[in-house]
Amino acid sequence: MAVSYKDIGLVNSREMFRKAMEGKYAIPAYNFNNMEQLQAIIQACVETKSPVILQVSSGARKYANQTLLRYMAEGAVKMAKEMGYAIPICLHLDHGDTYELCVSCIESGFSSVMIDGSHLPYDENVALTKKVVEYAHKYDVTVEGELGVLAGIEDDVSAERSTYTRPEEVEDFVKKTGVDSLAISIGTSHGAMKFKPEQCTRNADGVLVPPPLRFDILDEIEKRIPGFPIVLHGSSSVPVEAVKIINSHGGKLKDAVGIPEEQLRKAASMSVCKINIDSDGRLWFTAAIRELFTEKPAEFDPRKYLGPAREKLVAMYKHKNENVLGSAGKA
Ligand code: G3H
Ligand code: 13P
Ligand code: ZN
Repeated sequence: MAVSYKDIGLVNSREMFRKAMEGKYAIPAYNFNNMEQLQAIIQACVETKSPVILQVSSGARKYANQTLLRYMAEGAVKMAKEMGYAIPICLHLDHGDTYELCVSCIESGFSSVMIDGSHLPYDENVALTKKVVEYAHKYDVTVEGELGVLAGIEDDVSAERSTYTRPEEVEDFVKKTGVDSLAISIGTSHGAMKFKPEQCTRNADGVLVPPPLRFDILDEIEKRIPGFPIVLHGSSSVPVEAVKIINSHGGKLKDAVGIPEEQLRKAASMSVCKINIDSDGRLWFTAAIRELFTEKPAEFDPRKYLGPAREKLVAMYKHKNENVLGSAGKA
């Protein structure tokens, strides 16, 4: 039976983006697929009084079970209220690849969907995105489209090489499709291995620094569609501390380099209203579990290793909201 997101207590992204644009910050869009991640996101966002977008990929929806997910989202809304601060929560489909998937998510309580036609020829991307927008808007569900292709490989999301967004296409795309926000490609990419070491320089501490994002393209896009909400995917910073912990406790993460936080801060102060972060959470979760297993090899109660991992996530999300996205205190 279909359920409206409004009955669950969720909100769409429209008002969130309007305020983020005005206040020059970005809404955190954190991916989740299990209970500990969701608990950590809600706890961190309530404690920092930040609005939040809970993102679910099609792979995550299959993993968690689509019926259970709808109740997890409802539970998240209630949990925030019980914690004493009812932050705005949006449930968003990340990288939707078909019209049917978007419809199914809307019918099961999502308040926002992404239709990712970025790999399609331009006209097909326009047609597919428009079709999703026409359906979604009937239910006051917001839609994110994408122009330009990000590099990186992430389960269902893959592209070998990136193609930057062409600013000359954005105005036409937004007008023809009616989308509420637009994901663009300006040098970010999915996953933990975003750049090869040979593409980076080293700073004084020996840390690899990747080439800067293409703020010139973002500027040009802003000029063409002023005040229109822009989305950045692939925005994990790949913290060296987490990678070090993983690699010194039996892991093998070679050449992991992410997007420097200052660059995300700068993007958030421009027209970027939503910043997608998944890999950083995966890294801290893995780091905490590896560390615990090394220190306490006899441990076999999942709560004893998932609990500390959840604590790491809470700290990470709070840090992002407070120091990177600027969303803390905006709920
Ligand atoms: O951009 C993709 C997200 O990180 C989701 O990844 O498809 O492995 O759930 P996933
Ligand atoms: P990261 O892999 O950089 O965390 O990006 C996540 C993302 O874009 C989800 O859509
Ligand atoms: Zn993405």
